[in-house]
Amino acid sequence: MKSYWTWVAAAGVVLVGAIWWAGRPPSPSGNTAAAGVLLKPDDKALVERGARVYAQNCATCHGADLKGQPGWRRNPRLAPAHDETGHTWHHPDTLLVAVTRDGTVFRGGAMPPFGKVLSEEDIIAVLSFIKSRWPEEIRAAHDRINRRAAGRG
Ligand code: HEC
Repeated sequence: MKSYWTWVAAAGVVLVGAIWWAGRPPSPSGNTAAAGVLLKPDDKALVERGARVYAQNCATCHGADLKGQPGWRRNPRLAPAHDETGHTWHHPDTLLVAVTRDGTVFRGGAMPPFGKVLSEEDIIAVLSFIKSRWPEEIRAAHDRINRRAAGRG
């Protein structure tokens, strides 16, 4: 008899858990994080922090106006534009974070690594600032590139 009630109690716990699980509201932020979306261009505080990081660490090469070094299109050793005229937005968040953290010097490029200078959060902030400067349609195109990179369309 005792084991019967143990079973009833266990079944009740499972049922309540299942109802809770099914009834959870969909969580878009959770899903996008899982899909490799790291940048938050709509987070005002983060973007402001990113603007400061950019001015102190990136502007010397990529330009205070994000226009890159003059002649960058013809010379891969010059820093490319980070605005919509460059190719930064052609790459998913995960790759932008990796390039900023690891640089390209290790593979013969001229972008220095920032992994020892900036925290992961600073790197996300500075790239979120860059994305916040893109026109709406470029941001939408970049969202699609992120989804494709995550294998979701
Ligand atoms: C010393 C100059 C220099 C500084 C400072 C610098 N970069 Fe770069 N960056 C470059 C160069 C040069 C490239 C192109 C490298 C290559 O193609 O190998 C590049 C490329 C990149 C790319 C890849 C862009 C693309 O379209 O492929 C990203 C992202 C990037 N930089 C972000 C940053 C950020 C963020 C900072 C500041 C935290 C920064 N860079 C500071 C020189 C610099």
